[in-house]
Amino acid sequence: MSNLIVPASASVTRRSFLSTSSKLAAGAAALSTLPVERFVHGASPGDTIKVALIGMGGRGSGAANQALSTGESVKLVAVADVHKDRMDSSLANLAKNHKDKVQVKDEHKFMGFDAYKKAIAQADLVILATPPGFRPMQFEEAVRQGKHVFMEKPVCVDVAGYKKVIAAAQEAKKKNLKVGVGLQRHHQAGYIETIKRIHDGQMGDIMAMRAYWNGNTPWVHKRADLEAKQGRKLTELEYQMRNWYYFVWLCGDHICEQHIHNLDVINWVKRGHPVKARGNGGCETRKGPDYGEIFDHHVVEFTYEDGSVCFSQCRHQLGCWNDVSEHAIGTKGVANLGRYTITGPAAWRYQGGGKDPYQQEHDDLFDAIRNDKPYNEAFYGADSSMTSVLGRMATYSGKEISWDDAIKTNHDTMVKGIDQVSWEEAIKLTPPSVPGSDGMYKLPVPGKTTFG
Ligand SMILES: NC(=O)c1ccc[n+]([C@@H]2O[C@H](COP(=O)([O-])OP(=O)(O)OC[C@H]3O[C@@H](n4cnc5c(N)ncnc54)[C@H](O)[C@@H]3O)[C@@H](O)[C@H]2O)c1
Repeated sequence: MSNLIVPASASVTRRSFLSTSSKLAAGAAALSTLPVERFVHGASPGDTIKVALIGMGGRGSGAANQALSTGESVKLVAVADVHKDRMDSSLANLAKNHKDKVQVKDEHKFMGFDAYKKAIAQADLVILATPPGFRPMQFEEAVRQGKHVFMEKPVCVDVAGYKKVIAAAQEAKKKNLKVGVGLQRHHQAGYIETIKRIHDGQMGDIMAMRAYWNGNTPWVHKRADLEAKQGRKLTELEYQMRNWYYFVWLCGDHICEQHIHNLDVINWVKRGHPVKARGNGGCETRKGPDYGEIFDHHVVEFTYEDGSVCFSQCRHQLGCWNDVSEHAIGTKGVANLGRYTITGPAAWRYQGGGKDPYQQEHDDLFDAIRNDKPYNEAFYGADSSMTSVLGRMATYSGKEISWDDAIKTNHDTMVKGIDQVSWEEAIKLTPPSVPGSDGMYKLPVPGKTTFG
């Protein structure tokens, strides 16, 4: 621990910091007054980076595995979830792969909607991998407590969340905190090289783009199955938490949850977000109460500041043609970005290798923390998340919507006060949409649904 750097303003030694930090779980509220930012100016290779995992499902467990695989001096010290079964299985799996690095004491296993605050207090770096509706409040808290962050995409599902993430990203920059976002294509060598060529002008002017995520339904947790497993009725909020994909306040619709990857690549190509969107969408084939309130297809035309257009599609329908891809069409060639190829006069193909981008994004983040390199992916992560939200607003309302008008709405879907009450009280709160007497949720009606 020879080279540990505590901010110059810190009034405590490393030893006293550690003893302070072990007492922090008792009172997260007091944290804003404490010098808790560790490793904000780098760390020596031997310094152990303490990680907290918040949201212990498939991706959170994967991200923790990748964080623990970045080197020897890293350990998992705290976890938070709202479901004990998810916590137990995640910890058991992580311990199988990283026996010595999973050091979570029982008193650092936190449950409930406010658990994130307590887990954040124990760590140097926090992994945020809950359903995305919770991301803005959790990111804001991690930055407030002075912690480095890896957060999964999308980073928000509505306009209020977007603004919260941008404000916290600015604060993170001031505090020199490092922030990674799970848009892993940015860490995939082939994408990086292809987009570098576009930015170098080798394809001429980019006139149009295509972004597709056309595939099948990812998963569904049916109410009847969940209740049979639990042996009791679930409250509406409990049910939606387990089947979160199909509810906008938690997921944002699949245009946010999945298609963000493709829209993010297009924003990367354009070095900015679109200025307006218009589109069509609906729910044609995926019907039934367990499919909640989201559409099964969205087709959106996004216009960028220079007048170029991205034609976007995302669809969850069985038995149709499927494709997950991004293309850029320039005056000197066409790039298939995910295939790393350019055809036309500037023909080129990426032939290099590349690490698994899910691992690479953690290697890069930890390298930035250890060597104090500038690293804040929250800004483009927020813009790409908001691009998806803009597309959803356009398809739900059937209106053409400018980015600026969307931002003016301050649309906020989060259940108020959910992290300020006990789990027992929280699950009795009413989510933004509830089923009608037929068990079905109301779907947006283009032309009638307002976009705010
Ligand atoms: N980058 C990628 O390629 C990629 C891939 C898959 C998922 N993801 C993203 O990762 C996130 C999680 O997805 P997943 O597939 O792991 O979902 P999941 O349902 O498997 O896991 C979510 C976990 O969060 C917990 N949780 C829910 N609300 C919580 C709260 N308020 N506080 C603490 N814990 C809470 C749940 O109990 C569950 O264990 C999503 O945003 C998803 O879009 C990204």
